[in-house]
Amino acid sequence: MRMYDIIEKKRDGEELTRDEIRYFIDGYTKGDIPDYQASALMMATYLKDMTTEERAELTTAMVESGDQIDLSAIEGIKVDKHSTGGVGDTTTLVLAPLVASVGVPVAKMSGRGLGHTGGTIDKLEAIPGFHVEISNEEFINLVNRNKAAVIGQSGNLTPADKKLYSLRDVTATVSSIPLIASSIMSKKIASGADAIVLDVKTGAGAFMKDLEDAKDLAQAMVAIGNRVGRKTMAVISDMSQPLGYAVGNALEVKEAIDTLQGDGPEDLTELCIALGSQMVLLAGQAENMGEAREKLEQAIASGKAFEQFKLFIESQGGDPAVVDNPSLLPQAAHKIELPAEKSGTVAEIIADEIGTSAMMLGAGRATKESKIDLAVGIVLHKKIGDYVKKGEPLLTIHSNQEKISDIKERLYASIKITDNDQEAPPLVYDTISQ
Ligand code: URA
Ligand code: CA
Repeated sequence: MRMYDIIEKKRDGEELTRDEIRYFIDGYTKGDIPDYQASALMMATYLKDMTTEERAELTTAMVESGDQIDLSAIEGIKVDKHSTGGVGDTTTLVLAPLVASVGVPVAKMSGRGLGHTGGTIDKLEAIPGFHVEISNEEFINLVNRNKAAVIGQSGNLTPADKKLYSLRDVTATVSSIPLIASSIMSKKIASGADAIVLDVKTGAGAFMKDLEDAKDLAQAMVAIGNRVGRKTMAVISDMSQPLGYAVGNALEVKEAIDTLQGDGPEDLTELCIALGSQMVLLAGQAENMGEAREKLEQAIASGKAFEQFKLFIESQGGDPAVVDNPSLLPQAAHKIELPAEKSGTVAEIIADEIGTSAMMLGAGRATKESKIDLAVGIVLHKKIGDYVKKGEPLLTIHSNQEKISDIKERLYASIKITDNDQEAPPLVYDTISQ
């Protein structure tokens, strides 16, 4: 087999075979196939697309390019949730204990934040003592005992994806549906879940800014998952404005605690119930979505979900007193309100700009090496569709810096107030199960 022939075949729009895809992934991972040939194939794929069959083969080849996590020692159907990334996306902190409390085992491998989006591990580390540096054995024991545990990414997972992603990043081939879908799904499958629920975000703060692109990506990922034997479902949700009110690590932990107590923002609560119902259904813990939803609502109302969160925090070294008393979380020195400059209805809160502002305060990383400040961030008081009076606070900035005029300016520029009526955007646009 020759790489030249594979590139030529894809260039002419033909379908690659399983063996050809394997030859490429194995050779490229080992370093036998050079970057210039790999980038030619990536560009040909970008332009000519791949069939569902090819996408599934590419995903499987990438999964098998490195280690795979074996979760078979955990009892029950393991369901993982993946979000394509957003601003103030507090869902994992709520979902893990919520679905665990109704019997779904949650064995979660999570990452740290980069750029304008946050990472679940950073958020959890805002709780004093909480740590994710646990052995695989301890991780599995914790899930079997308490139904939920979170671990950091470790081991040599999908090395082919790491290499290809870096290459795509510099060859204008990132935004290709078959390539994104196989990249995301390979990581999820290698992490060992039996079933996968995807939260595909759309809007200004999302990777897929356009709704049709988000639907195409969701459909592509659901098709790959189901083809390789992992039941997969997807929700397309809004990321034009941040999710919930809080953006920032400790601030989002407090928001998660409120939500688990039934006192959270409406949109965050609803998205957690929507995603959680799919997880419960895939785990075989309910007959239908209605029953799944009812179970989750009851778990919040009865305090079961909240108790599960406390157990989860405590079992990974976190101070459980914080869960009862969130004022023990790291606090910023300054709380600065941003008053509305005019009266009207909030028409826009550009999510990625809010995320970037939070990052500039220190809540997120500009580069992988940046240190973050767990206490700082932004708490919105208004969302799209809300009426605001001139002088009323739009949001509160939690800062450890005193001079933040550039950040204030950026925030003002990212919130638009209109004299006209403006409806809130839908939270969930679509649900995709095949
Ligand atoms: N996120 C990924 O993990 N892979 C892509 O290709 C794009 C976004
Ligand atoms: Ca939030």
